[in-house]
Amino acid sequence: MTTTAILSALGEEQQGLLERLENPRPVTRAGREFWLGTLHGESLVLGQSRIGKVAAATTAVVLIEAFSVARIVFTGVAGALGAGVNVGDVVVAARFVQHDMDASPLFPRFEVPLYQQSHFTCDAMLTGLLLEASRYVVSTNGGHLPETGLRPGARIHQGLIASGDRFVSTAAEAAALKLALGVAGMDALAVEMEGAAVAQVCQDYGVPFAAARTISDRADEHAATDFQHFVTHVARHYALGMVDHLVRALAKA
Ligand code: ADE
Repeated sequence: MTTTAILSALGEEQQGLLERLENPRPVTRAGREFWLGTLHGESLVLGQSRIGKVAAATTAVVLIEAFSVARIVFTGVAGALGAGVNVGDVVVAARFVQHDMDASPLFPRFEVPLYQQSHFTCDAMLTGLLLEASRYVVSTNGGHLPETGLRPGARIHQGLIASGDRFVSTAAEAAALKLALGVAGMDALAVEMEGAAVAQVCQDYGVPFAAARTISDRADEHAATDFQHFVTHVARHYALGMVDHLVRALAKA
């Protein structure tokens, strides 16, 4: 049986999922606690990327090398960058860019040296399943989580997500980031701190990767407060709903 890795940055985001895991068994590697178990008969390992690209890359390598996972799925939160992307919406990643990668003038800005690419693309099949799972969660839960204060009518977007080792917390910084990416022909929908690193590791190892990020904030002056509230009260409902639906689909495949 193949094992699917479910990653989130923080423990709070996986709380509901861990409670649902059958036959849970903790395993520690690289100072991180992973949980092995099953859901709907599928073998899972839950892990936390922690925050930032290096921590996320370490976690991804452990999942692949120590747990031999067949695929990695990331569910987490992100700040909105794209026009029409709002708090409570879900952005399913088509590809990732490292927005703080800049080896110019040796290489074009955003290009990862020696890879000859600025983007890391997600697995089409796994992303399709995650997209369906996100649609399911938004359509069934979007207006029905009163305790979360979630905006009804949340939308799903699919496209580019930008990752970097910065929590973007001013409107000016978000605008500058959008502009810089735009100059390079890129239109990012959301910003976070881990996805591109996991995508790069997965490309290196040939492991399918997909990611969905619920928008917790607008990457502006309210971002820190909005982020804390969303991670504490809302994110785990999305993660649980998405992963539950995705794992049912994997079990049928
Ligand atoms: N993750 C969630 N919100 C974020 C933000 N504003 N900047 C970076 N990562 C985030």
